[in-house]
Amino acid sequence: MGRLIVVSNRTPGRGPAAGGLAVALRKTLAERDGFWFGWSGRLVDAPSNEAAFEDIEGIRVGKIDLTRDDHHAYYAGFSNSILWPSFHLRLDLATIEGHWYEGYRRVNTLFAQALLPHIEENDVIWVHDYHLIPFATELRHLGVRNRIGFYLHIPFPTLDALYAIPHNTELMRDLSRYDLIGFQANRDVSAFAEFADHQSPSTLSGSPLKSVDFSRTEVAAFPIGSDPEAFAKLAVSPAATKMVRRMERALGDQSLILGVDRLDYSKGLPQRVEAYEKLLANNANLRRQVHLLQVAPPSRDSIKEYQETSDTLDAMVGRVMGHFAEPDWQPMTYVKRAYGQPSLAGLYRLAHVGLVTPLRDGMNLVAHEYVGSQDPDDPGVLVLSRFAGAAEIFEDALLVNPFDTDETAEALRLALDMPLDERRRRWERLMEAAMAHSVDRWAESYLARLTPNGPDGKPAPVR
Ligand code: G6P
Repeated sequence: MGRLIVVSNRTPGRGPAAGGLAVALRKTLAERDGFWFGWSGRLVDAPSNEAAFEDIEGIRVGKIDLTRDDHHAYYAGFSNSILWPSFHLRLDLATIEGHWYEGYRRVNTLFAQALLPHIEENDVIWVHDYHLIPFATELRHLGVRNRIGFYLHIPFPTLDALYAIPHNTELMRDLSRYDLIGFQANRDVSAFAEFADHQSPSTLSGSPLKSVDFSRTEVAAFPIGSDPEAFAKLAVSPAATKMVRRMERALGDQSLILGVDRLDYSKGLPQRVEAYEKLLANNANLRRQVHLLQVAPPSRDSIKEYQETSDTLDAMVGRVMGHFAEPDWQPMTYVKRAYGQPSLAGLYRLAHVGLVTPLRDGMNLVAHEYVGSQDPDDPGVLVLSRFAGAAEIFEDALLVNPFDTDETAEALRLALDMPLDERRRRWERLMEAAMAHSVDRWAESYLARLTPNGPDGKPAPVR
């Protein structure tokens, strides 16, 4: 079997912040003698075009530096001000600057050129996320004939949103240069199929897209997951228990409702606070009985729309506090900081309700981690947005439309009142689903499809 090369914008870091993806792929990379490749996190005036390799907690990682201008156009610009909002159906929050596309392509070219000398004949290359859609095209231009797969961690857009993206034809042609495209959810496969169907010549007249041939690209849903058993252990670890004790003292006998999200407009945080406001307004008996803890580490804060989301939330939290707080009671706590996995696991376990209400989300791993961290004897309730990929897997959550804050408020009330036997019944099925969709199985099933299975493991035919 050939080696595995994983390519993504961010490369694995050191310490407890190391993401689930890095942990999950560490073993596979080691077994297949592979490495990870991506941006170093450094911005320099004159970057070398050669990758620097180092070992990071058992993973071999090749990195390249970027200039500030290239990075801005590629990351804050095309990736996060055009692709991210459009793929999340927030065209109102997209900013379109024509020249960002050149920076986006240039960075993809630079990445491909720096990776090229390290590719061997039978390697399979697995490219991650929207920052790197053109990566296969760039490698093919350089003569690479290996199997190349793409995995989109975010949702695939509707046709209208796709057409609003500059250079959408080139981007879709870029996707057709992959051997395998993996999506999070069936929803995304359907959206993609709708686009691919539009490619038949009969429907082309008037369409801004010219024909893109996907006949050599395999497309399927591979829903990502977490390691629920690791979270179960972590949630009772000493570090988690320390956090739990602190919180228990602060909470007394109030029930905890917990939200944990990057501070991103796709997460539906203002709607969530509004739903909580309605819960308190409609159920006076719950005041002093519940507490909402929202953890929201800042994200992409050089982008105006992220700053505005942050300002909106500050104002809303202030409003809830002013309206409902009393000298000796606060309805909520809002923490704009990141916590390590052990502390989060402790908080998840303590929370009576895990409130996961993105307006649109590829998967949402907080939902998986919340389920994994529960006490089997006294589990909490997951309130989950229908528009998270996770909703296709977690049918036993209380599913809500996050835009409908009355519905979310009512789901919160039901969750807080839910009898133990129903909580157990639901959680057992949720945990089964989380285990069936663990991140290990995800990587295994994707790579089984991407890796050529002929007797000699030869690369795919030249295209
Ligand atoms: C989402 C994306 C990832 C990204 C992460 C954090 O999960 O799918 O590709 O790495 O957000 O965002 P950031 O911009 O900080 O990398």
